[in-house]
Amino acid sequence: MDGRDLVRSARTVRAVGTSQGWLSVRSALRRRRADAAGLPPRGAERARVPGTAVGAEPQPGGGVVRFARSSLRIRVTSGGAVFCGWDGATPEPSYALVGPGPEADGRAELEPDTEGGWRVVSERVTVAVSRFGAVEIRTPGGVVLRRELPPRWWDVVSEAGHGDGTRPESRSDQDAVSGDDGTEEAVRTGSCGGVSRWVQRSEVAADARFFGLGGRASGPRLRDGTYRLWNTDPGGAFGPGDDPLSLTMPVQLVVADAGTHLVFHDNSWDGRVSLHEGEEGRGSGHDRAGSCEVRMDGGPLRYWVLTGTPSRVLHGWASLTGAPALPPRWALGHQHARFGFGDAAEVRRVVAGYRTHGVPLTALHLDIDHLDGHRVFTVDRTRFPDLPGLASELRQEGVRLVSIVDPGVKAEPGNAVYESGAAADAFVREARGREVRGVVWPGEAVFPDFTDARVRKWWGGLYAERLAQGFAGVWHDMNEPSSFVAFGEPTLPRSARHALEGRGGDHREAHNVYGLAMARAGYEGLCELRPEERPFLFSRSGWAGLQRYGGTWSGDVATGWPGLRASLALVLGLGLCGVPYSGPDIGGYSKVPSAELYLRWFQLGAYLPLFRTHCAHDAGRREPWEFGDEVLAYARGAALERERLLPYVFTLGQLARLTGAPYVRPLWWNTPRDRALRDCEDAFLLGDSLLVAPVLEEGARRRSVRLPRGRWYDTTTGQAYEGPGRVMIDAPLSRIPVLARAGAVLPVAGADGDVELEVWAPAQGRKGGGLVVPDSGDGWERPCVERMESQWESGRVVVSRPDGEPVGYRVRVRGGGTRAEAGEAGPDTHGGRDEE
Ligand code: GLC
Repeated sequence: MDGRDLVRSARTVRAVGTSQGWLSVRSALRRRRADAAGLPPRGAERARVPGTAVGAEPQPGGGVVRFARSSLRIRVTSGGAVFCGWDGATPEPSYALVGPGPEADGRAELEPDTEGGWRVVSERVTVAVSRFGAVEIRTPGGVVLRRELPPRWWDVVSEAGHGDGTRPESRSDQDAVSGDDGTEEAVRTGSCGGVSRWVQRSEVAADARFFGLGGRASGPRLRDGTYRLWNTDPGGAFGPGDDPLSLTMPVQLVVADAGTHLVFHDNSWDGRVSLHEGEEGRGSGHDRAGSCEVRMDGGPLRYWVLTGTPSRVLHGWASLTGAPALPPRWALGHQHARFGFGDAAEVRRVVAGYRTHGVPLTALHLDIDHLDGHRVFTVDRTRFPDLPGLASELRQEGVRLVSIVDPGVKAEPGNAVYESGAAADAFVREARGREVRGVVWPGEAVFPDFTDARVRKWWGGLYAERLAQGFAGVWHDMNEPSSFVAFGEPTLPRSARHALEGRGGDHREAHNVYGLAMARAGYEGLCELRPEERPFLFSRSGWAGLQRYGGTWSGDVATGWPGLRASLALVLGLGLCGVPYSGPDIGGYSKVPSAELYLRWFQLGAYLPLFRTHCAHDAGRREPWEFGDEVLAYARGAALERERLLPYVFTLGQLARLTGAPYVRPLWWNTPRDRALRDCEDAFLLGDSLLVAPVLEEGARRRSVRLPRGRWYDTTTGQAYEGPGRVMIDAPLSRIPVLARAGAVLPVAGADGDVELEVWAPAQGRKGGGLVVPDSGDGWERPCVERMESQWESGRVVVSRPDGEPVGYRVRVRGGGTRAEAGEAGPDTHGGRDEE
């Protein structure tokens, strides 16, 4: 047991109680035994590099370059995405891709270069492969965005026995190993039989910044360090220093002056990414490149690279891995959750509290305490005697119920879910054939194998029970998968067997896609059971492609100012990995927040896609009236503003679905060359129109805000500021600074509830605009996107549609001030007032 184990074991006992503490000891021992018997022993291994290029075969969009000891498949697709697969790796099978992957670009051809290497030139990108297997991704203008050095593998050379009966691949003499420069490599020990580990180093520009890798508490800018790719329940509340968390992804977004690119290593094994930002020589000409090293414990070495502007890259990513699911409209409103609602009466009391205090609420989430002994798909009927009745009563007040769903099924005779799953042979088994037993909230539990289509179908059918109870959406939890252990990894044994869509394999490969496959099971089940409504699903764990099924949330972010900051980092980072819908536990999960911290968190949350308060059973309350009258008034203000902005937030959800652009974007989204913005982590853009600058520091009543170029209006005072630059803006307790881009046209709810257009006066001589997607219900109607333009005409700001259709909404012009009204708005415009 090491130090981390001790901490984990203490947290486990605290979290689950001493009665389950001993179970977690047994579970850890069992896990260790299963792996001792089921994983191949570590054998000798030998390093290998590709060697020199010996030939190439053209194929559509590229071809295969053959090296002495490996091969590299390159395919440029019609959308400009680049696929590289070493050692015979192809794009499929893949848990991330939607469909068979994009078509090859027929015009892109593999051709020899003058130095013994090869290249593929396409309209949007050039891929150059050196004689030794280094790969450069270049812009059409020839600037190198990324240089991948020749990879290195460690192949198994001794034949170790395999728990699953398979044998390690044997390599013939012609695979004798030499280094990049032809030197022999030492034989090392340490591999897990049959599986080649590999490492790939790459270089990026000295000015490049790294983002992504899934949900990281220390982001959004990923500083020098090593980030693990292994979805992990931190086993208690986490803060910025904790890594990894529940939703890791081998997806990096790299932003540099030369361009933006996204790299996705399509490999679900355990791995590590080490990042080092570069350094510029400040005119000395001695720049140090940034570097990245991806090191994986097994699985294919294959990756995709997408290049272009940030919006183009995210669009390409959504085409590759699937359009983000659009939440129903109510899921964009203010929601309340809590671990430890006593009973139905307490639920009613809380909902009534929101009503009487005038704070809008659209959903209430029931945690595991509403279940019968924490068993999934059951109800504690003593405390919730008529859940369907409660659900329909709340629904009449406009409040939906959302249910937690954990994958761990209590393993006991008489538990219907366990019995039906056992009959369907649905649960993950050890290599020796026994069901894997772990420990989660209900006690000893088994885990469905979601990598089996048959099991997904069975599990998806179980959501009928949740719908019958009146739930409108689901919240997937503990699906890293998490199992309480006193020591060792808090998950299933690595040797546990999985179907992996019929290919067969073990938990080393299935672990990171477990939550993703569970989301698929739930999503497809809900689509089938209630085809007329879009499912609402969000999941703690997941992987590349999770957005197809739903969103995610922070997980148990620690109460405290660092946790507040981490929760913004998570949302921004996930959005850049293609998962646009997420949000934190407002107030933090673990402790009672101060009134000020709670309020600042609430104010931030009001501008994030998932706007939800939540906390642990022993972390106090999260209703705004519990923090005094002043906080209540200000939280009410934030929630009402969110309600007013709902048509805009809904439009952003639709646009995320259509284009892959996240609702919440870093400040550099439209101006990635602005280096100061690349380093700015304390503010964000909500869509194209708003800039939100949350207060992340205790006691702050003013804050500095870095502005992208152009004119920005403080939406409260109407004062105009000219960017780029930094300005000080008041941030009294009553609000956080929110600025609107000059010219922005955004749909908002008017006082009568009808949608109206809020227009922020463009600077003189400039035009502005915005998109509006009208609400068309919670079904599957095709969205219609209305484009609006704003401009000055004869001293007035007017809105029109370039397609000539009538605008069709009431228009309210803001900003511009008296001087702007007179047609003389200048950079010093102050004190705007509303105009009708
Ligand atoms: C996990 C979840 C948390 C939930 C708790 C009980 O810790 O992250 O949100 O309240 O489990 O279900």
